[in-house]
Parts: sequence; structure tokens; C-alpha cells
Amino acid sequence: MNQVIIRGMKKEDIAQIIEIEKKCFSLPWSRDAFVNELKNDLAYYQVAELGEKIVGYMGMWKVIDECHITNVAVIPEYRKQNIASMLIEKMVDICVCSEIVAMTLEVRESNIPAINLYKKFGFVSAGKRPRYYQMPLEDAIIMWKKIN
Ligand SMILES: CC(C)(COP(=O)(O)OP(=O)(O)OC[C@H]1O[C@@H](n2cnc3c(N)ncnc32)[C@H](O)[C@@H]1OP(=O)(O)O)[C@@H](O)C(=O)NCCC(=O)NCCS
Repeated sequence: MNQVIIRGMKKEDIAQIIEIEKKCFSLPWSRDAFVNELKNDLAYYQVAELGEKIVGYMGMWKVIDECHITNVAVIPEYRKQNIASMLIEKMVDICVCSEIVAMTLEVRESNIPAINLYKKFGFVSAGKRPRYYQMPLEDAIIMWKKIN
């Protein structure tokens, strides 16, 4: 049985990441978006790899002393196996080592799995962004986690 490995995203991973995006989001990011993210010194992208297969990934941007999570996704068949948790743990470690003081994100208010995931890691709700998401139109909950 292969173990899940968390490692930095590479350009060769993008084809698999695009397939995960399509399975997980109504407005998937494009290939160009990920190519640009990998060139961005302030962006951190990690993948969860099982054997040769990418089963999940997560991204964040460093903005001064805060990190903004851009996306977290796990292929549906691999959910509820702690994979997103491993990705978040890695990102929290990166933040702790980079003197980041807080992490933040937006999440659809109906996205209970994601909200529970973030709460499990100490994120707390701190307001809403009305009509933030399209397809379907929905408010975002803003969540924060203090670091250090
Ligand atoms: C949200 C998502 C990333 C979770 O991935 P995952 O690998 O299944 O998560 P984990 O197995 O690490 O679960 C960690 C915690 O999340 C919560 N959680 C995960 N799936 C859940 C579900 N279906 N219902 C309720 N809570 C859930 C639980 O608190 C869980 O902890 P527990 O196992 O102790 O109960 C995954 O459901 C996904 O890819 N969703 C689609 C993309 C998405 O919405 N991304 C977030 C955008 S803001």
C-alpha cells in the first residue's frame, strides 16, 4: 500500500491538477493560472501524491505577514482519508517557519465539509463577503487562524 506524500507542486503535475479542479469546482482554474502560480515567488502550492497519482492539492499566497489560502481540493474518491488535513498541516508548518502571523481564506457558506475542515485546524469565522461566489451565486464566510 502506497503512502500519501505531501510535496511541492511541479509544472509536470498541472495536467492532473486541472482534472481535479474540474471534478471539484464549478469554475475550475485554467492551466495558465497554475503555470503563473508556480512562477510566483509569493505563492506556495503543495500536492498530495499517492503512488504516481496526485489525489489532492492546496495553495496559498504570502501577503506581507499573512497567508491567504487560494484553494484546497481532494479527488472525491479519496476524501475523508485525512488528505486535506495533511495538506493543511504542511501549510501551517510553512507559515510557522516563515514568521507568518495569521492565515485566512474564503469559503462558500454552504460548504460544510470545508468549513468543518478549517474549524478542525483552529480557523474561526470573522464575517462574510456577500455574493462573493458565482455559479451558484453565494456568500463567502471569511475565516482566520492566528499563527505563532
Ligand atoms: C473540503 C475537502 C478538501 C476535504 O478533504 P478531505 O481530504 O476529505 O478532508 P479530511 O479527510 O482531511 O477531513 C478533515 C476534516 O474535515 C471535515 N470534513 C471532511 N469531509 C467532511 C464531510 N463530508 N462532512 C462534514 N465534515 C467533513 C471533518 O471535520 C474532518 O475531520 P474528521 O475526519 O475528524 O471528522 C474536500 O471535501 C474537497 O475537496 N471538497 C471540494 C473542494 C472544496 O470545496 N474545497 C474547499 C474550497 S474553500
